Amino acid sequence: MILVTGATGAFGKASIHFLLKNGVAAEQIVALARDAAKATDLTALGVAVRPGDYDDYPSLLGAMEGVEKVLFVSGSDIFKRSSQHKNVIEAAKAGGVQHVVYTSFLGTNETASSPLWMVAQSHLQTEAWLKESGMAYTILKNTLYMDFIPVFVGEKVLETGMIYLPAGDGKVGAVLRSEMAEATANILSGSNHAGKTYHFTHSQAFSYAEVAQHLSNISGKTISYVSPSAEEFAQTMQAHGMPAEYIGLFSGFATAQALGELETVGTDLEKLLGRQPTSIQTYLNQLYATALH
Ligand SMILES: NC(=O)c1ccc[n+]([C@@H]2O[C@H](COP(=O)([O-])OP(=O)(O)OC[C@H]3O[C@@H](n4cnc5c(N)ncnc54)[C@H](OP(=O)(O)O)[C@@H]3O)[C@@H](O)[C@H]2O)c1
Repeated sequence: MILVTGATGAFGKASIHFLLKNGVAAEQIVALARDAAKATDLTALGVAVRPGDYDDYPSLLGAMEGVEKVLFVSGSDIFKRSSQHKNVIEAAKAGGVQHVVYTSFLGTNETASSPLWMVAQSHLQTEAWLKESGMAYTILKNTLYMDFIPVFVGEKVLETGMIYLPAGDGKVGAVLRSEMAEATANILSGSNHAGKTYHFTHSQAFSYAEVAQHLSNISGKTISYVSPSAEEFAQTMQAHGMPAEYIGLFSGFATAQALGELETVGTDLEKLLGRQPTSIQTYLNQLYATALH
């Protein structure tokens, strides 16, 4: 039996759909949810939903009963994530789980000097705990979701005609979250993945100057890219009323990109999917062509 955590979120839910598509029987899949009301669509598919909260060890232990493999989707609360992840790993081990597949984070700078250290730290700690656990593990080092590019450039980008982010000429090997979930399901329903670490990236990285060019081509308008300093970015966004936590997140990813920390590319994902992942050009075309017509 395969237990999928974060099953009410985008990554976990998509992974379950791809497991079913791969022919894994619904009775062989269990969804962990802290709010079962958010998983009624999975229940309707025949997937059992078990209650569990990363903060509540007994609930996690109960959910592990009869489970062989766990897709451990990292939690979304970066401040509580380390203790939560320790609970999940300890419950999996105590519950007799054999193999844990974990959604980690990919950056070239895995030290406190990274602008993304707040994000990376708990992932690296979790990787270490998993490796020490004695259970088989597969680590998915996930780059930035390509789905976040439209968020970072702003929903009004075609109106304002400008991308404003402190990312310099840095590139990112982003891929769509759904394609990461698809490759994850292929790992869970396949074999020979124990002890492996995969880089979930594109084979080609892109910059925001390229995103601006794609958007110009799609819209027929000139979309420019301006890269301020991180300080100027924070001041401008604050003046526009952006909440501090969003400024920190946008700035953290952009400055890490400027420093080359997100530029890793490779073919791990391509091999697991059996095709090239969607390119940024195709994704933006699909997204904005729909919005424009
Ligand atoms: N690579 C990237 O670009 C990127 C970007 C954003 C996030 N991430 C990471 O990847 C993970 C999956 O991404 P996503 O898009 O699927 O995020 P998401 O849609 O926010 O889903 C997060 C899932 O984790 C569950 N969760 C959070 N805290 C929990 C807790 N205490 N106990 C049990 N479940 C808990 C959520 O449950 P509820 O539905 O109850 O909230 C939800 O099912 C995120 O959680 C984050 O760690 C990666």
